[in-house]
Amino acid sequence: MNQLFDLNGKVIVVTGATGILAGGAAKYLQQNGAKVIYLGRNQERVDKAISEANEISQDCMGLTCDVLDERGLKEGYEAVLSRFGRIDALINGAGGNMPGATIGPDKEIFDLDLDDYAKVMDLNLKGTVIPTLTFAQAFKEQKSGCVINFSSMSSTQALTRVLGYSNAKAAIDNFTRWMATEMASKYGDGIRVNAVAPGFFISKQNKALLTNEDGSFTERGQQVINKTPFRRFGKQEEIYGAIHYLISDSSSFVTGTVLAVDGGFSCFCGV
Ligand SMILES: NC(=O)c1ccc[n+]([C@@H]2O[C@H](COP(=O)([O-])OP(=O)(O)OC[C@H]3O[C@@H](n4cnc5c(N)ncnc54)[C@H](O)[C@@H]3O)[C@@H](O)[C@H]2O)c1
Repeated sequence: MNQLFDLNGKVIVVTGATGILAGGAAKYLQQNGAKVIYLGRNQERVDKAISEANEISQDCMGLTCDVLDERGLKEGYEAVLSRFGRIDALINGAGGNMPGATIGPDKEIFDLDLDDYAKVMDLNLKGTVIPTLTFAQAFKEQKSGCVINFSSMSSTQALTRVLGYSNAKAAIDNFTRWMATEMASKYGDGIRVNAVAPGFFISKQNKALLTNEDGSFTERGQQVINKTPFRRFGKQEEIYGAIHYLISDSSSFVTGTVLAVDGGFSCFCGV
């Protein structure tokens, strides 16, 4: 029974690995015996992540690539296979928002910048689909492997302002179910595709939106807290357990799910 949560030797590719949630999870997985590939688009940040990762173990690798760059991902895929010989999991952690794709308090709904909207859709949706179609090819040969996508609270509930991001995350839920079904139907029950849906965790992207410089909540931060029964934001490390579970054999009959890690945000109507 102790083997259920074993991660030893698993080869795990992590996109967005220079960011808060996926980056923290990547290190956690490596500390628990996994061989981790840190994929990020900024060379300097990938170098920094790898120099820290090397202190955990030498079984790690950096890949500098945009998640929308099909060719770069393909080269990365070949590089991972040539070094490690297999891939056990892909974590699609790259994602985010941009101001033009949101409707700020000073804007009309009709002011939406469609170029920014398209960029946010591309980053969050295609930026998950393309890496999955690239790295999950290994799963077909192996007849095993798993994908973990990043959804959001905004995928099933309307969250004010963030139109493009919400649309893309809703599509991620759909892609998770679709890919789970297709992979299992075609290649068997060793391949699983799931998602985590974080509630509100402080990241570089949302820090100024949710908290003031003195650490108190902004008006929007307070609105989030009011709808979170735990009355706090998530801590980075509180996402690691869900990811560990979904990668490990303990979830061998779990596919196509979106697992909320949210302090109760999604089950509470706010009143
Ligand atoms: N923090 C939260 O509260 C929260 C809530 C719900 C969902 N999420 C999702 O969790 C995931 C991780 O978010 P985070 O909070 O750690 O944010 P983060 O900004 O710290 O991490 C996102 C990472 O994605 C990378 N990235 C962006 N565009 C890229 C591209 N084109 N190619 C390659 N990499 C790219 C960034 O460089 C960054 O390292 C994202 O998908 C985000 O949407 C976060």
